[in-house]
Amino acid sequence: MPSNKKAAKQPTGGYFISFEGGEGSGKSTQAAMLGETLREEGYDVLETREPGGSPGGKIVREVLLGGHAAEKGPLAEACLLTSARREHVDLVIKPALASNQVVVCDRYADSTRIYQGYVGGLLPETIDQLEAIATDDLMPEVTYVLDVDADVSKTRRKARLSTKDDGDDRFEKEDQSFHDKVSEGFRWLCDTFPKRCILIDGAGKPNTVALTIRDSLRLRGLV
Ligand SMILES: Nc1ncnc2c1ncn2[C@@H]1O[C@H](COP(=O)(O)OP(=O)(O)O)[C@@H](O)[C@H]1O
Ligand SMILES: [Mg+2]
Repeated sequence: MPSNKKAAKQPTGGYFISFEGGEGSGKSTQAAMLGETLREEGYDVLETREPGGSPGGKIVREVLLGGHAAEKGPLAEACLLTSARREHVDLVIKPALASNQVVVCDRYADSTRIYQGYVGGLLPETIDQLEAIATDDLMPEVTYVLDVDADVSKTRRKARLSTKDDGDDRFEKEDQSFHDKVSEGFRWLCDTFPKRCILIDGAGKPNTVALTIRDSLRLRGLV
């Protein structure tokens, strides 16, 4: 059978893309769709996520999303995430980029800047220090920040809870004002880092949102 797959593409030094946004904004859906699109384009793609993309990250995911770190406060959460992130960078992301893969990461350092910083109250200087340690100064080439309004997010989170156990439990339990503040934080992130962070309207159908992301990657010469 003829294949749609194009000739292998190997960008030197790879290409690093992250997805950010609140719960139910469609990050995991879009990360998977983009991974598929890029494979069809001929790229070698690594899909990964945070926390959970490395052995230590899996432990931190359980501790954090189980709510066990919340009572210790945002600094404790941020430190756990920092150790997991650095392991993920050293063992997974950097080796993939060195093999010229495209890395698609579902949440990365910006999530800590928003959840523990903008919402949790850690000072920007603290977030900067932890981010430098966590990432070893490796940031994505582009970050897609999915934005949906409160009603859409609520409906999707509910739908997901009733179908599968893939929610960010610790944060699912927070009230609406928490989720509103998270959305506000991610919009602030896009204003603050406009070259890297692209605000994407996540309210449309999955294919429509995916097309917007594809258009943006076309501008960057990736597809
Ligand atoms: N564009 C969309 N339109 C409608 N439903 C969506 C869309 N994107 C995702 N969903 C559904 O909403 C829920 C949350 O999506 P998900 O990708 O898991 O969000 P996130 O990873 O940001 O929390 C899932 O049940 C998913 O199937
Ligand atoms: Mg998800």
